[in-house]
Amino acid sequence: MEGKKFYPTKRYLEFQKNAIANLESFWEKEAEKIPWFKRWEKVLVWDEPFAKWFVGGMLNASYGCIDAHLHSWRKNKVAIYWEDEQGNTKSFSYVQLHREVNKLASVLKKIGVEKGDIVVLYLPMIPELVFSMLATVRIGAIHTVVFSGFSSQALADRINDTRAKVLITADFGIRRGKFVPLKDIVDNALKLTPSIKKVVLIKRTEKEVKIEEGRDLLYHELLKNAENYVEPEPVESTHPLYILYTSGTTGKPKGIVHSTGGYLVYNYATYKWVFDISDESIYWCTADVGWVTGHSAIVYAPLLHGATIVIYEGAPDFPYLDKWWEIIEKYGVTIFYTSPTALRMFIRYGEEWIKKHDLSSLKILGTVGEPINPEVWEWYYKNIGNERCPIVDTWWQTETGGMMISPSPGLELVPLKPGSATLPLPGIDAEVVDDTGNPVPPGTKGYLVIKKPWPGMLMGIYEDPDRYKETYWSKFKGMYYTADYAMKDEEGYFWLLGRADEILKVAGHRIGTAEIEGAVVATPFAAEAAVVGMADPIKGEAIVIFVILKQGYNPDDSLKKKIIDSIRTQIGPFATPQEIYFVEKLPKTRSGKIMRRILKAIVQDKPIGDVTTLEDEASVEEIKTAYEEFKKMIR
Ligand code: WTA
Repeated sequence: MEGKKFYPTKRYLEFQKNAIANLESFWEKEAEKIPWFKRWEKVLVWDEPFAKWFVGGMLNASYGCIDAHLHSWRKNKVAIYWEDEQGNTKSFSYVQLHREVNKLASVLKKIGVEKGDIVVLYLPMIPELVFSMLATVRIGAIHTVVFSGFSSQALADRINDTRAKVLITADFGIRRGKFVPLKDIVDNALKLTPSIKKVVLIKRTEKEVKIEEGRDLLYHELLKNAENYVEPEPVESTHPLYILYTSGTTGKPKGIVHSTGGYLVYNYATYKWVFDISDESIYWCTADVGWVTGHSAIVYAPLLHGATIVIYEGAPDFPYLDKWWEIIEKYGVTIFYTSPTALRMFIRYGEEWIKKHDLSSLKILGTVGEPINPEVWEWYYKNIGNERCPIVDTWWQTETGGMMISPSPGLELVPLKPGSATLPLPGIDAEVVDDTGNPVPPGTKGYLVIKKPWPGMLMGIYEDPDRYKETYWSKFKGMYYTADYAMKDEEGYFWLLGRADEILKVAGHRIGTAEIEGAVVATPFAAEAAVVGMADPIKGEAIVIFVILKQGYNPDDSLKKKIIDSIRTQIGPFATPQEIYFVEKLPKTRSGKIMRRILKAIVQDKPIGDVTTLEDEASVEEIKTAYEEFKKMIR
């Protein structure tokens, strides 16, 4: 690679340029590819920063993902292959999926769910999770999926923000052979949430769980009296499809609201370009449905295309190290989409596990969620793709609704560069800018921004338009602020360089430092806490906490354990820290802001000069002195 220049193809650049120049007609053509009950009157109403796409159009996501396929050969093809750690399998054809979704939709109606109501889903990776999402939107209700790794407190916070009346859960989830007591977690959460009146309980196991009469209803019992068909409720294009909570820079998670029409059009289009998906694809995205990747990449985009999806309920390396490669071979997966964290873990296990399997069905490989190091990219290309499959490194966010910067082999493959997400997708006007909002020269680090609206963009933050404006549209005038650092190279390729705000990506999971700090100071003995990310060879980032104790408490391991317990009960086990340091004070600027730059330099064992953030208000001298002082303190 050294010294060689790789320019994007002319065709791709033309395509991109034309799309941006004719934004509305470009997206209008894409919108025509998905089923609508009524055509829109206006492609875009842009009341900055609020975008309404395909205004006046009516559609239904469940119709598009299921019913639309029942009139073709796809009717009897497999929509979902599901497998668990024990090797139990289930599969559902499109017509069977239709049946399941309709039955549940009729049940939801019977228990009082109406158009516009919010239904909370707290479920493991079982087919019923997909049924629940599609059944909810079938009747015009809105789902809020809460990742089943979140604790009862985190679940309660999300329920309380939506004031939802109905929740769907399961008795247990199963991971690494262990039973995760989801119903118990729900019961605890519901002590803190007055709004939930009905719980639909799916029995995933034979084990007994507590049932609260009048509130808890058994899914399999309800289905006995369910109807086989429920008319899909036509909704406005701008009717919310779902709310998904994600971490921000304050302790309170943001309810990201996505539209029905714009979101579906955007995901339909981008999955064709990026994954060249079709109704012949066997598509496996290893994310959990609880995160945005699961929403777009497991459920809505592939089902809209009539593809077959694979769902695996379990950890990547359990019960044996080649479970994933076995799944690819067994189902003949053609498109495989995973995280750099998972790949880094597999590199460590060695190639012999992969060589045991025939992976020749694969056509395109993808990654998402965090930057991929060039070595990992090369390893993926060679060992999983056998040097045949393009790798699509897809950059996007919960807020963007779909992929934004990525190679597009389904449209026009540009030369790939390991570690670069390549170029913005057609219609996406991305730029890298400095503090004043001006583009930076090639090779310079800056902030990634998007300069024009796109159909997948969030409609807002649930019930908080001011926070929406403040978070995304106040840093730079007229540009969506991604809060990611990036760099463009000489050939115009984008390189993503991590978050520019106080959000961590731990094993691809998005966690706000403020949420963790909140959980630490919730203990009776912590006076103050500061959380930073430390580079981790597998997880990308790991959590490090600095804690100041209240007077009268002495640092010891029992306090560390209590801090960990607090994080696990307030957020969830996935936010468990790697290191906890007790300190007497934290380095602060004159106005009292913690100098995170110093903390980051220390945990990464780097000289202070190498650790850049663009927003520190302290002078270099001050930072150096504070760094030296602080370093002595934690030794
Ligand atoms: C990061 C996940 C580098 C980024 C879909 C972004 C990436 C955050 C990539 C959003 C990528 C996502 N390369 N970084 N290909 N994809 N990110 O909301 O920092 O969970 O802002 O959405 O993940 O995380 P979220």
